[in-house]
Amino acid sequence: MPERFYHRHAMATTYAAKIMADPLHPGLFLAAPRRTGKTTFMREDLAPALQLAGAEVIYVDLWSNRQTDPAELINQAVQVSIERNLGLIAKLTKQSGVVKLKVGGVEIDTGSIGKAKGITLAAALAALSDSLGKPIALIIDEAQHAVTTTAGSNTLFALKAARDELNGSHHHGLRLICTGSSRDKLAMLRNSRDQAFFNAPLVNFPHLDRGYVDWFCAQSRLDFALDPEVVWSKFVEAGYRPEAMQAAREVLEYSMIVDSAVGNAAFADAVDEHVREMSESALAVIRSLTPIQAAVLKVMAVQGKDYAPFELATLGKYADMLRLAGMNEAQAQEAAYAQNVQQALAALQEKALIWKAERGVYAIEEQGLPDLMRNAGMLPDASAN
Ligand SMILES: Nc1ncnc2c1ncn2[C@@H]1O[C@H](COP(=O)(O)OP(=O)(O)OP(=O)(O)O)[C@@H](O)[C@H]1O
Ligand SMILES: [Mg+2]
Repeated sequence: MPERFYHRHAMATTYAAKIMADPLHPGLFLAAPRRTGKTTFMREDLAPALQLAGAEVIYVDLWSNRQTDPAELINQAVQVSIERNLGLIAKLTKQSGVVKLKVGGVEIDTGSIGKAKGITLAAALAALSDSLGKPIALIIDEAQHAVTTTAGSNTLFALKAARDELNGSHHHGLRLICTGSSRDKLAMLRNSRDQAFFNAPLVNFPHLDRGYVDWFCAQSRLDFALDPEVVWSKFVEAGYRPEAMQAAREVLEYSMIVDSAVGNAAFADAVDEHVREMSESALAVIRSLTPIQAAVLKVMAVQGKDYAPFELATLGKYADMLRLAGMNEAQAQEAAYAQNVQQALAALQEKALIWKAERGVYAIEEQGLPDLMRNAGMLPDASAN
């Protein structure tokens, strides 16, 4: 069986060693653009490496179910981990029959973790860690989603409390690893003092390297040899996204090409085609927006981190965008009312184009979108703003 993934064992081992070595580990934030292999690395490489380094690993993806509150997803992940470990805990504690995890001698109901009258997240994590006699490593994928709800924000504070308790000298430790596809958004989880992970390091997660491309070429079942040089340069152009490579290879599997030069040129074209299609479908969503929704998204794209949705100056910018889109002065002024903006923001959030933190801060969901819009001529010249 060919390997399904290219593994980055050395990187995972190094990360795991660093994460486990610091007894006062504040948490680690890893950011990389969409579709570049964050989840695959967390699940296939980092989680096993953390296990090998002696941790009980809990993984939760806050995008796994967008209908469920992120707080609930985190609580459920801890619950599942406790329930999965009950058999082992029975052996470790030499108990027979049904085992319940206990906190201060009182049996805990795992279904009540994080609930108003239930057991706190910190107590549940401490009980699990103490009964297993090992540290817990909690990986939260798409962590920026946690601050989109009040319960989710509270869970981050609960995790901070849990971290401080478990990293105390009477316990075995809690390591938190958070990932996300936007640096700006992840930064909000740790920048200001009222945030739970003030000053935890935020690092750029490395994209897949040349080793991935060599692996990809070596396991290709095409009738000609893929040239790693060609594939690498297309991989870089496609923003280090494996899917562009996979899509191009799948197209060529049915092409009957056997000549290497012809095949590699066709591969390069197929990657370009895939990238174009992806960009087109993202732009098609934007083209289907109402004028005010489009204006709001464009102003957000231009202003980036400084975006303040309801400031007078910003309302003026929406009106400018609407005029650029062909409205007359009166129409533009009328459309750019705060109430319309509020509705447009809600609609953009509904379409998953933008992200809203519970505190009312907005950002474009995908960090590559402003560049895409700019290249498609959808944004006015930067100098005009
Ligand atoms: N190490 C790898 N080897 C082979 N394929 C990979 C590897 N990493 C990622 N991929 C492929 O790239 C695609 C995106 O990977 P993944 O879902 O891990 O990225 P992501 O950064 O978590 O994406 P998202 O931003 O949507 O969460 C998937 O099709 C996956 O199979
Ligand atoms: Mg992912």
